[in-house]
Amino acid sequence: MTARPDRLRLTDSLEISRALTGLWQVADIEKDGATIDPETGAGWLADYAAAGFDTFDMADHYGSAEIITGRLLARGGDPRPVALTKWCPAPGPMTAEVVRAGVTDRLRRLGVDRVDLLQFHWWTFEHPAWLDALHELARLRDEGLIGELGVTNFDAAHFNLALSDGVPLLTNQVSFSLMDRRAAGDLAAVCARHGAWILGYGTLNGGFLSDRWLGQPEPAQIADWSKMKYHRFIQAAGGWDAFQTVLQAAARVARKHGVSISNIATRWVLEQSRVAGVIIGARLGEAMHASDNLNLFAFALDAEDRATLEAAFAATTPIPGDCGDEYRRPPFLTASGDLSHHLSEVPKAFVPQPVPGGAQVLTGSKWEDIAGYCRAQRIGDRILVSGTTAVAGVSRAVAPQDAGAQATYILDRIVAAVTSLGGQAEDIVRTRIYITDESDVMAVSAAHGRVFGSVKPANTLVRVAGLIGDHRVEIEAEALLRDG
Ligand SMILES: NC(=O)c1ccc[n+]([C@@H]2O[C@H](COP(=O)([O-])OP(=O)(O)OC[C@H]3O[C@@H](n4cnc5c(N)ncnc54)[C@H](OP(=O)(O)O)[C@@H]3O)[C@@H](O)[C@H]2O)c1
Repeated sequence: MTARPDRLRLTDSLEISRALTGLWQVADIEKDGATIDPETGAGWLADYAAAGFDTFDMADHYGSAEIITGRLLARGGDPRPVALTKWCPAPGPMTAEVVRAGVTDRLRRLGVDRVDLLQFHWWTFEHPAWLDALHELARLRDEGLIGELGVTNFDAAHFNLALSDGVPLLTNQVSFSLMDRRAAGDLAAVCARHGAWILGYGTLNGGFLSDRWLGQPEPAQIADWSKMKYHRFIQAAGGWDAFQTVLQAAARVARKHGVSISNIATRWVLEQSRVAGVIIGARLGEAMHASDNLNLFAFALDAEDRATLEAAFAATTPIPGDCGDEYRRPPFLTASGDLSHHLSEVPKAFVPQPVPGGAQVLTGSKWEDIAGYCRAQRIGDRILVSGTTAVAGVSRAVAPQDAGAQATYILDRIVAAVTSLGGQAEDIVRTRIYITDESDVMAVSAAHGRVFGSVKPANTLVRVAGLIGDHRVEIEAEALLRDG
């Protein structure tokens, strides 16, 4: 066994332990209202830090985790523990004031002048304010309130969009495990292209990926939130038998190295491309697992081990969609199976205006008045969406060098307009795409395929001599509401 976990210096200002300590469990421990005494909690964190697990991951909604970590930080220490937190606002306008308040609340609860890594979560990309929020957060980073900026649960397309739009994102924290391998796909490629990093969570499937569950029957009742959540992942990935096949393969590899199944599960994620670290959830004051988790840094997987695990993957079903989709669309792979722990409702991006025979959506653009048009119009069971470019705010072209990113942004606007008028993406029966450069065909097509892969509307792709402004792509759409 090695004495300390590996460390990774990500930037001049941020070095992390590659096995981070996750504090979501604080919310579960405190769910009945009794909070952990902050000094007692800080003492438990100090034990993790002393073992080298000194990088703590938390969020605004993880019970009193920020306050407990603040008490630890106040104790000093060399090296000083590292605090990563998240801001997960409800969708709405992201003005400079709103974003600053979100950050200063983190600073206040942590009792610091600067958050080491602030990770931003957004519930629906159809609401475009997420990009405003990220640019505001980047300004607060320049001001020194934030050390480094990251996101959580962003799919590859939106992570790329933000980076292509100039947001200095360092990390994307996503689910990554033997049962959920989505992050090894497009997200790892985007990270490689932009020099960004993945922080993997759920690497132990809430503790299911451990010796304790090998050969065990599927539990009929689950009490803790973490296991409720990952039980849903297991069901989505092919069910308990598929899970046991993976567990048995991990057990064979574990026996070969003389380590635990949990070590194999976590090590596999740690060795994936662009993974900076794995976040291992900690039930403070209960089982610490520190000595077992130190074994992670005492061995490496070889080609035979990887082949054994990959053969077992064939028994599983890929988790649907891309990273983070489990928070944005069915099947919601959350503890409750929906967003009820987080939001009472997901607000619509636009408020429709009634007009004779239907309704219209206006975005407030000055051009809607000058040229006399709306973003989208519903007439009976038809919804027509105007040619849409990737405009943020009044007139800024998003990601002017990246047609794929522009197409992603545009399609969010189109789906948001259709949704606001009572339809959904599945109702879209026709799209027309205009591009200026033939070399953009693949990127734009892939963005269209990501949204419409299973819908498959009729489509036309036209190359035009030019579009107005810094736009490389424009898309229009038509939807038909099947039951009127
Ligand atoms: N960004 C997001 O949306 C998001 C979502 C989920 C989690 N996270 C972050 O990621 C962290 C970890 O994820 P998670 O808690 O969901 O799942 P996890 O790390 O897969 O599971 C944590 C559980 O695994 C068990 N465990 C830990 N080490 C072990 C070992 N060596 N051997 C056997 N069992 C071991 C413990 O269970 P027992 O206590 O039962 O022993 C622990 O509570 C969270 O705390 C949070 O910081 C972020």
